[in-house]
Amino acid sequence: MKLSHRLEQINQMVTDQYDHIWDCCCDHGFLGAALLQRGAADKVHFVDVVPSLTEVLEVQLARFLPDFLKGYDWQVHCMDVSTLRLPESSGRQLIIIAGVGGDLTLEMVQAITRTHPDRELEFMLCPVRQHYLLRQGLIELEYGLLDESLVRENRRFYEIIHVSSDSDCVISPIGDRMWDLSRDLDREYLSRTIAHYERMGRNAGQEAEQILAHYRKLQVSAEKL
Ligand SMILES: C[S@@+](CC[C@H](N)C(=O)[O-])C[C@H]1O[C@@H](n2cnc3c(N)ncnc32)[C@H](O)[C@@H]1O
Repeated sequence: MKLSHRLEQINQMVTDQYDHIWDCCCDHGFLGAALLQRGAADKVHFVDVVPSLTEVLEVQLARFLPDFLKGYDWQVHCMDVSTLRLPESSGRQLIIIAGVGGDLTLEMVQAITRTHPDRELEFMLCPVRQHYLLRQGLIELEYGLLDESLVRENRRFYEIIHVSSDSDCVISPIGDRMWDLSRDLDREYLSRTIAHYERMGRNAGQEAEQILAHYRKLQVSAEKL
C-alpha cells in the first residue's frame, strides 16, 4: 500500500513511540495501517463516523494485515470523533485528525480537550483549509507546538501541525518553522494565501484585514531574501 504524499509526510512526522495512536476520520485507514505496519504504537485505533466505511475497513484489516502484524493490536471504532474517550492511564497517546475542514478539526479538538481536562493531550492535525482558524483555536486552548510542516498535494496546500498540551513552544497563527521562503513551494503558498484573504477582505472586512497583515509581514521578510 503506497501512501499519498500528504499522508506519507504525516507518517514521517510520527517519530516517537506511542501506546495508542488514534487515526481519526480514517476513511480508507491507509495512514493508520502504515503506522500499525511499522509498529509506531502498541495499539492503533481507526475512527470514522460512517458505518459502511468502518465495516469494510474492519474486514480488510482482518483479511490483509494479520500475516505481518503479529503482536500488534488494532481496533476499528464507528463513532463521532468529538465523542472520543481515551482509555484511563494508558500511557502516551497521539490523536491524528486529517482530511477534514479546519473548523471541524477545531470542534473535535475542543470537544476532546473538554472531555479530558486533566490529561496531557497530543494531536497531529492536517486540515483541509482554515489553517488560521485552527491555529487560533489551538492557541486559545493553550496548546504548544511540537512540529509543523507544509505539503502540497494535487495542487492544494496542507499544513501539518503537531501540538501538545505539555509543550511551552508558542504556536504562531500563520505558522513559523514550517516556512522556508527560499523554496518556490512556500512562496506560492504565501501568495495564494494573501490573495485569498484579499478577496475575503473585500467581502468580510476587518477580521480578514487583520489576518492579512500577519501574512503580509511574512511576505516582506520573503522579499528581503
Ligand atoms: C476525506 S476523509 C479523510 C481520510 C484521511 N484521514 C485523509 O486525510 O486522507 C474524511 C473522513 O472523515 C470522516 N468524518 C467526518 N466527520 C467525522 C466525525 N465527526 N467523526 C468521525 N469521522 C468523521 C468521513 O466519514 C470521512 O471518511
